[in-house]
Amino acid sequence: MKKNILVVYYTQSGQLKAIADSIVGPLAGCNVVFHEIKMEEEFPFPWTGDSFFDSFPDSFQQRPHRLKPVPPEILEGDYDLVLFHYQVWFLSPSIPVTSFLKSDEGRKLLSGRPVVTVSGTRNMWILAQEKVKKLLKEAGADLVGNVALVDRAGNLVSVVTIVDWLFSGIKRKYLGIFPMPGVSEEDIRGAAEFGRIIQKHLEAGTLNSLQPELAANGAVRVSSFLLSVDQKGNAIFKKWAQIIEKRPAQRKFLLKLFNIYVILALYVVSPVVFVFHILTYPFWRRSFLKEKEYFQRV
Ligand SMILES: Cc1cc2nc3c(=O)[nH]c(=O)nc-3n(C[C@H](O)[C@H](O)[C@H](O)COP(=O)(O)O)c2cc1C
Repeated sequence: MKKNILVVYYTQSGQLKAIADSIVGPLAGCNVVFHEIKMEEEFPFPWTGDSFFDSFPDSFQQRPHRLKPVPPEILEGDYDLVLFHYQVWFLSPSIPVTSFLKSDEGRKLLSGRPVVTVSGTRNMWILAQEKVKKLLKEAGADLVGNVALVDRAGNLVSVVTIVDWLFSGIKRKYLGIFPMPGVSEEDIRGAAEFGRIIQKHLEAGTLNSLQPELAANGAVRVSSFLLSVDQKGNAIFKKWAQIIEKRPAQRKFLLKLFNIYVILALYVVSPVVFVFHILTYPFWRRSFLKEKEYFQRV
């Protein structure tokens, strides 16, 4: 019997749809149904500075927005596996993705089903995945696999290129000298290999042993530096989000301050932290290897 696969995704630039297409390429023998998450009120693309930072408090606090209904033929389908594609906004699942995971319809689609999460982010996805894990658990889903695709350029370079991409809406080599932004074409094409591995385990009924094989094939790379920035960033973002939400009258001003803070944190603080991180790495290498093993699992 043909297996039924539901592919859920949200994407502004089309990157996550390209990743989804690559992964389902080898699943030709299955019935594949796509569901694109649609907002009642769309987020802009390209972004402006104001709209970008205005999405921070709701992204980080995981406040859902209203979604367009899921078409009934998708809602009523019977699926053997859900491939759940998402992106990260401000170290958290994006607002459309959080909204889906918290919605009755989203939970109905996920409940009792095996799910593979697939993220396409700049590079900071680890703690967002923990938040997605929690929401999947609340929805009654069974997380069996995780693929995390990132921009492999250096941390500061990828900030420059992604800002150009998100604020122009055009995927290009910034100033003709920077690399292309986002997940590389090669990694998007290469994601087909993860599709083959998923199909093998789906057909064999061994989805419970899927993740070790995905991880062994490079589906999840964990960097000690990015993990530590993600952990510290989450603690600091939490404070900012609370301060901004508590003072609605000063929201605009506080978001401007937050904007300045983010730029300083990225370009002034993070290079210093990076050097400190490299120098002290031998002292906590062991604990990182344990953490790495944990974050490579589901
Ligand atoms: C508002 C906003 C915040 C973002 N924050 C992060 C982040 O914290 N970490 C990260 O790795 N990528 C971040 N990104 C990049 C996205 O995860 C994603 O890679 C990019 O927006 C392309 O996704 P798309 O498929 O929707 O076009 C952010 C993007 C946006 C628009």
